[in-house]
Order: sequence, then C-alpha cells, then structure tokens
Amino acid sequence: MMKPMQQLGVVIAVILTLGSTAMAADGGNPKKGKHLYKKECKACHSVNSEGPELTPMAKTMGQWDRFFQRDQHKSKPEVFKALSEQELKDIQQFLYDHAADSDQPQTCG
Ligand code: HEC
Repeated sequence: MMKPMQQLGVVIAVILTLGSTAMAADGGNPKKGKHLYKKECKACHSVNSEGPELTPMAKTMGQWDRFFQRDQHKSKPEVFKALSEQELKDIQQFLYDHAADSDQPQTCG
C-alpha cells in the first residue's frame, strides 16, 4: 500500500503528464502526412488556386491544432469528409511538426 502522500504524488504526476501533452494528433504519421498534404491540399492551396496559398509555417502549432479540431475546414466541409480520421491525423502531424513556432518550420509542403 502507498502512503496517502505518495498517492497524491502519483495523481499529480498523471495530471501534469496529461496536461502537458501537446495537442498534435496522437498517432499521426508525418511522412504520410506530407504525401497526403501534397495530394489532397496543395491543389487548392498554391499560388493561383482556389484557396489561399498555404504552407506548414503559415500557422503556429496551436493554430493547426485548432484548425483540425475545431474549424475542420468549415469553409469547405467536404474536403475533410473525404479523408479518413487517420489521414487527417497524418496531415495534422505533418503541418504541426513544421509550423511557424516548431523546431523545423517549413515553407514548402
Ligand atoms: C477543393 C479545394 C480545397 C481543398 C482540396 C482544400 N482546401 Fe483548404 N480551403 C479551400 C478554400 C476555398 C478555403 C477558404 C478560403 C477563404 O476562407 O477565403 C480554404 C481554407 C483553408 C484554411 C483556412 C485558411 C487560412 O488562411 O486560415 C486552411 C488552414 C485550409 N484550407 C487547409 C487545408 C488543408 C490542410 C487541406 C488538405 C486536407 C485543404 N485545405 C484542402 C479550398 C480547399
């Protein structure tokens, strides 16, 4: 049996771990994400395309997470609906990994 103080310590450790976990998609594969991004997003997000030109570093990590979790491409919902949950996670992870405030900001997708 753990003493009450030790139990409290465990609870606090768990809360801290959960709280500090980056929001980026759990289990997203950034390599696949890069490929998917080029295939599924670039057509509408390059110069002279339908949507605004977009690169991973056009947004911060937090902005990408919000986009994937809340916005979910609401300006054209069918875009996200056509992709599987896993594909979206992969793309999210790729964009997140190369966001403006990431370790490796990237201009090209
Ligand atoms: C069929 C064309 C099309 C495809 C495919 C597409 N988008 Fe978009 N996207 C748009 C349009 C149009 C807008 C709205 C632009 C506006 O608000 O004026 C938009 C808006 C966005 C925005 C918000 C723009 C901003 O500056 O904040 C983001 C982020 C975005 N798309 C990401 C993606 C991602 C990621 C993918 C691939 C999964 C994707 N889009 C695929 C057409 C597309």
